[in-house]
Parts: sequence; structure tokens; C-alpha cells
Amino acid sequence: IKLASNENPLGPSAKAIQAIRDCTSQIYFYPDGAGRKLRGALSRKLSMDCENIILGNGSDEILSIIARVLLHQGDEAIMATPSFLMYEIGANLSQAKIVSVPLNNFRIDLDEMLGAVTPKTRVVFVANPNNPTGTIVKNEEVETFVGQLPEGILAVFDEAYYEYVEAEDFPQTLDLIRNRPNIIVLRTFSKIYGLAGLRIGYGVAAREIVDILNRARSPFNVNFLAQVAALASLTDEEQVRRSRQLVREEKRFFYSHLRRLGLFFVPTEANFILIEVGKKAKQVEHRLLEKGVIVRGMQAYDLPEFMRVTIGTREQNEEFMRELETTLSS
Ligand SMILES: Cc1ncc(COP(=O)(O)O)c(C=O)c1O
Repeated sequence: IKLASNENPLGPSAKAIQAIRDCTSQIYFYPDGAGRKLRGALSRKLSMDCENIILGNGSDEILSIIARVLLHQGDEAIMATPSFLMYEIGANLSQAKIVSVPLNNFRIDLDEMLGAVTPKTRVVFVANPNNPTGTIVKNEEVETFVGQLPEGILAVFDEAYYEYVEAEDFPQTLDLIRNRPNIIVLRTFSKIYGLAGLRIGYGVAAREIVDILNRARSPFNVNFLAQVAALASLTDEEQVRRSRQLVREEKRFFYSHLRRLGLFFVPTEANFILIEVGKKAKQVEHRLLEKGVIVRGMQAYDLPEFMRVTIGTREQNEEFMRELETTLSS
């Protein structure tokens, strides 16, 4: 069982699968390079204009376009550590300087990020919820942050796990975009919609930002089947509701078992959970792997005593707990 990449174990909407089946004979056509139908559907869902939406080959692609277009040698990109590794990779490829701001009690510290701004800062990356911690920055914190961020700096709110968030004080960043030119919100069909293998995500921002990013996008960046499946997914609210419900119930299963085992964990707003397993983390990860349970070790995130585990189905979670308990007690 794979609990390493925060996929949705319930899979995609049946409507998405059917939509793909219905159009396989048309794959000799190029996709719509502008993604008009999907952008139209998203604009209605989000109450934004089509011109505010850019589609990407995964939100990863939008992140890399942002880095390519806005970051150059000598520029600075502010990001939290640990956070999603693509920010670092993008900034490195652009030869920009990475300004790392440590988490504060596993949470992104927007005040410290603001304090790290210099005349060379071009972009600030904020994963909300953060990966690998599953923690959020709250509405109030975000409002203060964007209110003080100079207009020439782009704030990237990467909300890949948005649909899983339970907290009521989670920021409504799309509302901020209406008044500010320097915010982009990224979301994806890879997580709750279960389309990770098709690669499709989107960004929402002021028209000027979308225009600039579009110039660096390749004309057919999002494939035909991904667009068709994403469009069908948006019509299936039940799939989203079921997936959210699963994670809400199953994270409590994790909490109670981890408490029973006396393991520290970070309460999560996403579909994964960061667990402290101690000095033997690497061995534990290998033992789990031998038993067929794949989790994400946190060495690359500078949290060598932790691992990140995707919340699966009850059956998968029970198996993980069983193997974890056996491994820890051996
Ligand atoms: C915080 C965050 N942003 C973006 C992504 C990438 O998503 P996509 O599949 O849309 O490229 C991930 C995937 O793990 C993620 O955790």
C-alpha cells in the first residue's frame, strides 16, 4: 500500500473515468490550448473571470513557470523550511537565492517571512496547508501579511490540499485576489479529485499576472484527457464530499492510535500526517517497505526523525498501524 504521495485512495470520480472513456477516439486532436471549457467551469465555480485562471500540467508546472518568469540570478525567493520541495527546485533552476524561514512550532511564520523581505525579493512561497506538516496559516495572519507585502513581490498561496481543510479560520485567498495584483492561488486536481496521474492544476490571479505567466506556458501544456476528466470531476460534488469525509474520520483514527503508541504527531488539515518516530526513523521506514507499506521518510525535509504518511482507507490505515506497532516494538 502506497501512503507516500498524498493521493486520494478512493480514486477519481466515476464521472471522470466515464468522460475519458467517452472521448478516447478523439485523442488524435490537439487539446484546446486555452482550456476554455475547463476555465469556464472553474470561473463559475470560483466566481472569478476566465481571465483570472491559468491551467498547468499539475500545479508543479505553474510553480516552475512562476520561478522561470519571475526569478533570475540575484533575485531572492522566500520560502519556509521545511515546505514543499518544488519551490526550492524552481528557485535553484533560476539561480535565485533561496531565503529559508524556519517553521515556528511546525507552522509557517508569515511575520518572519515578511521580516525576510529585501529589495531583491521577488516571490514568497506559502504552502497552505503546508507540506509536510499539514498545518495552516490563518485568515488573520494572511490578511496582515498581504497588507504589508510590497506590491512588486508575488505571494504564492499553494492550496493543493484546500478541499481537505476543516479549520474555520482558513483564509479565503480568492477574495484577496480581487483587490490585489500580487497574489496567486494554486490548486490542483491531483489530490482530492484523484487525478494525479493525468497532471492538471490551476492558478488564480489578477489578469496581469495570468497574462505574464501565459506567455511562458507551452501552447498545449495540459493534455486533452486531463481537461476532460477535470471538467467531469467538477460536476461530482459527492466524490469530493466522500473523500473529505474519509479523511476527517480517518485522521481521528490516526490520532487515537498514535496517542496510544505514545508517538508525537502534528494535527493535520490535509490528507497526510507528520509523525515523529525517533532516531530509528530510517530503519522503521525500511521495515515498513519490506512489509509492503510505503511512507515518506523526511530526511530530504531536514526532519530525519519523522515520517509523513498519507491518510488512506480504514483498511490501509489499520495495516499501517499494525506494521508500525510491530516494527517499533521489535
Ligand atoms: C504543497 C503542494 N503543492 C503542489 C503539489 C503538486 O501538485 P500537482 O500534482 O498539481 O503538481 C503538491 C504535491 O505533492 C504539494 O504537496
